[in-house]
Amino acid sequence: MKVLVVGSGGREHALCWKLAQSPLAPELLCAPGNPGTARLARNVPVQANDVPGLVDLARREKPDLVVVGPEDPLVAGLADKLRTHGIAVFGPGAKGARLEGSKVFAKEVLERHRIPCAQDRVFDRSGTAKSYLENCTQWPQVIKADGLAGGKGVVICHDPKSACQAVDMIMEQKALGSAGTKIVVEEFLQGEEASVLAITDGETILILEPVQDHKQVGEGDTGPNTGGMGVYSPVASLNRRLQRQIEQHVLVPTLHALRHEEIEFRGMLFVGLMMTDNGPRVLEYNVRFGDPECQALVRRMKSDLLPILLATAKGELSKIEPPEWDERVCVGVVAAAEGYPGTVRKGDAIEGLDAAEAHEDVVVFHAGTSSDKSGRVLTSGGRVLCVSALGADLNAARERAYAGYDEVRYAGKFCRRDIGTRHQSKPGTEPEERPHRRPARDPRAAEAMRARIERRIKAAGKPPAPGSAEPGPTAAE
Ligand code: AMP
Ligand code: GLY
Repeated sequence: MKVLVVGSGGREHALCWKLAQSPLAPELLCAPGNPGTARLARNVPVQANDVPGLVDLARREKPDLVVVGPEDPLVAGLADKLRTHGIAVFGPGAKGARLEGSKVFAKEVLERHRIPCAQDRVFDRSGTAKSYLENCTQWPQVIKADGLAGGKGVVICHDPKSACQAVDMIMEQKALGSAGTKIVVEEFLQGEEASVLAITDGETILILEPVQDHKQVGEGDTGPNTGGMGVYSPVASLNRRLQRQIEQHVLVPTLHALRHEEIEFRGMLFVGLMMTDNGPRVLEYNVRFGDPECQALVRRMKSDLLPILLATAKGELSKIEPPEWDERVCVGVVAAAEGYPGTVRKGDAIEGLDAAEAHEDVVVFHAGTSSDKSGRVLTSGGRVLCVSALGADLNAARERAYAGYDEVRYAGKFCRRDIGTRHQSKPGTEPEERPHRRPARDPRAAEAMRARIERRIKAAGKPPAPGSAEPGPTAAE
C-alpha cells in the first residue's frame, strides 16, 4: 500500500503521523513535506500547487491513494486529473472545491438549496457595491472577497466609510489579486461560532469529533485573523442537540445540494457556522481538513484513518465503521514566528523539539520549518510548529501542551497562552451528551447510527426548511 500526501504544513505532518501508524503499514510519500514528515515519509520536492508536477509524480509512483491537504490544488483540479489516471483521491474535484474557492458560488448553492446562511448581495463593480453600502441602514456589514485569500478575504465593517474603504482595497487596489474581482456583502450574524468536519463520499457522511481553533492572533480573541493559533477537542459547548441541528439543517441538505448540482464529492466537508438564535447559519465551506483542527483530530482518533480515507476515495464509505475516539482532551498550541500573520522572521534555528516530546503525551507537528545541510531545523513560515498534548481534561491537556511548548526555543517565538479556555464545560453539555462518543465498539449500535444517517440522506426528498431552531423528528427517530 502506497499513499501520497500533498502539502507541507502541520496538517500534512499530522496526516503522515496518523497514516504511519496504520496496521496496513503504508509506504508514505509527501509532496513537498517538511522536516517533520521527513521522519515518517519520503519527501518529494514537488510543490503542493504544482498540479502537472503532482500528476507526473503520481503516474510515476502509482500510489494506491492520494490525500490532498490544502485547498489550492483541489480548486485547481488536481483530484480530477488524478482520477482520470485511475488514481484514488481523498479530496473533491474542482467543481466541489468551488464551495471553498468561490464564496459567490457557495452562496448560490446555499440559497438554491435553502441551506441556512446570512442574507447577501453579490457585486462585480465597486461603484455599485459602494452605493449599496452607503445606503445600508443595518450595521455591521460583512464584506467577503469571492476567491481564495488565505484567510484575509473577510472584513467586518461598522460604518459606510470603512465598508467603502474595504471595497476599494479589495476591488480597486486589488489587495487580494483576482480573489477580489467579485465580492459578497453579507448581513452580520450574531452568536457562537462553531466548525463541523465531516468526511463524505457523497452518499454517506461521517461526522468527526467537535474541534475548534482560535483564529485571532491575540489572547482573548484580539488582533487580526490567522490560519489558527491553537486548537482543542472535544468542544463541550457544541453539545449533542446543536450537533443534531447542524447535521439535519446543514450537512444533510448540503449532501442533497451536491447531488442536485451533480457534484461528486469525495473528501472533507468542513463547515464554518454561526449558531444564531434562529439556528445554525453557514458562514463558509472548506473542502479539506482544517489546520490545526486536523492535528487535534488525529491525536484523538483511535481507529485507523487509512481505511476511512481510502473508502471515501473509492465511494465506499458506507462499508466503514465510525471511528473510535480517545476519551481524552487534546490541546494544540501553535508556536508562531515574529511578525505572524504579517511578514515573518525566518531562518532561526529551532531547539528543544526532543525535550518537548519527552513530556507525557506530547507530539510536536512541524509546519513552517525547513532543515539546512547540517540537519538543523530552522523556522521558515508563520506558523512554525503545533505542540499537541492529550490530557484527562482540558486543564491537564493545556498544562502538557504548554510544558512542551516552553521547551521549544527559537528567536521570535510566540504563542497564545489562552488556547482551550474559551469553551469550558457548561452545565448540561458534559461529555456524555456528545454524539460522537459513538458506540463504535458495539457493531449493532454503529450500524444503526450509520443507517440512520444514510436514511436521512436518502429518504428526505427535500432539505428541511431553514430557520427553525429545533429539528423535527427524523426518519429513524
Ligand atoms: P469566513 O472565511 O467566511 O468563515 O469568515 C471568517 C470569519 O469572519 C468567520 O470566522 C467569522 O468570525 C467572521 N464572519 C464571516 N461571516 C460573518 C457573518 N455573516 N457574520 C458575522 N461574522 C462573520
Ligand atoms: N483553521 C482554519 C482552517 O483551516 O481553515
